[in-house]
Amino acid sequence: MKLWGGRFSKDSDPLMEDFHSSISFDKRLYREDIEGSIAHATMLGSIGVLDISETKKIVDGLKNILEDIDAGKIEFSQRAEDIHMNVETILTEKIGVVAKKLHTGRSRNDQVATDLRLYGKKEIILIEELISNLIQTLLDIAIINTDTIMPGYTHMQKAQPITLAHHMMAYVEMFRRDYDRLVDAYKRMDVMPLGSGALAGTTFPLDRELTRKLLDFSDISQNSLDGVSDRDYVVEIESACSLIMMHLSRLSEEIIIWSTDEFKFITLDDAYSTGSSIMPQKKNPDVAELIRGKSGRVFGHLVGSLTMLKGLPLAYNKDMQEDKEAFFDTVDTVKKSLLIISPMLGTMKVNKDKMLYQAARGFTNATDAADYLAKKGIPFREAHSVIGKMVTYCLDESKSLDEMTLEEYKKFSDYFEKDIYQAIDLITCVNDRSVTGGPAIEEVKRHINKINNWLEEINNGRNIN
Ligand code: ARG
Repeated sequence: MKLWGGRFSKDSDPLMEDFHSSISFDKRLYREDIEGSIAHATMLGSIGVLDISETKKIVDGLKNILEDIDAGKIEFSQRAEDIHMNVETILTEKIGVVAKKLHTGRSRNDQVATDLRLYGKKEIILIEELISNLIQTLLDIAIINTDTIMPGYTHMQKAQPITLAHHMMAYVEMFRRDYDRLVDAYKRMDVMPLGSGALAGTTFPLDRELTRKLLDFSDISQNSLDGVSDRDYVVEIESACSLIMMHLSRLSEEIIIWSTDEFKFITLDDAYSTGSSIMPQKKNPDVAELIRGKSGRVFGHLVGSLTMLKGLPLAYNKDMQEDKEAFFDTVDTVKKSLLIISPMLGTMKVNKDKMLYQAARGFTNATDAADYLAKKGIPFREAHSVIGKMVTYCLDESKSLDEMTLEEYKKFSDYFEKDIYQAIDLITCVNDRSVTGGPAIEEVKRHINKINNWLEEINNGRNIN
């Protein structure tokens, strides 16, 4: 008979069993489920709902089941529906009727919410670690490329010269925000709903504070309806993960473009590239393409979860069982993507000469030429127009700004002197942009330093915790 079978006179249709069972995916919560049950039983023992020997039998039995599952000795049953009832069924087989007392003052509704939060907390920490590794990789690339000049783009058109370090540090900022978002989401994940019961708490005098301590939550939920029906933390993680994937996807897109024959800014290591079954010359950036592609499913999970939740009246509804596959696939996808992008980036070869070559073409120093005139007192808008005409002239003459003679310069403005060549030299263009956040070598080094300190801080923090 089913654990809830008392009021039923007929068994479920096998189709029904297959449709509503969640064990195929929620079995991954087995550790959290058993830990939650051990804490609940221990607490029931402390308030006298279970006597000492009952508590011991249940706790030992649960520990035993955990070992058996870890050792691969347990086969879950679809008939038992989900991980919660599978564990309870196995416990009953192991220790007999006393197991039937475990569910006192508890519902699967507060149980599953507790399990998912316990699981989510661990996942957040793992993702944070992977993000900090990626930031370290980007930082390492930046450190050796503070003077690697490359074109910066807007509209995918060459705009102004920057350095590869400056470009990498832009991604560092994105991933740092992602990290902060996870730290912030963790706080709300760290609230224990156990004790909310099915929806309206329980008549047993549960010591929720003790369970909280045993399960290492920072706080307990304050409203039993909200305790069982809140899935904000799922949406928050899916949202934070969507932003991570969006950032990874943008970075991947750059890697894909940079590795084309047209750009040749980088060469990916063979270990992170693939070939073609027909075209012998091919070397494809599959890792970056897959990350770009996988961002779609994570965004999908976010929208799916929001949609699943938006029409649900309080409190628990079975719709909410749909939260898990989306959540699991989100964290799996983000972790896999973060894990592989670091070595792919860390092993890629940077073709500095190609970057410099391209930065020297396309008038990336035109703004600097305009700034030169503006610094001599010409209103910037006018200076802009003078340089615009010079660019047209250069295009007709097939030359770059630094290939013009001083006489040619003078035809456009009397303000030009010999020092214009120095002013439009790419290194000057980069270093003169020393405003906070700019690409100047010293400025980027300052930023690198700041991030180095931040990384040290968070790594120490993690060790202390
Ligand atoms: N497997 C269920 C889920 O994931 C557990 C909670 C079931 N609660 C219920 N009232 N049927 O949501």
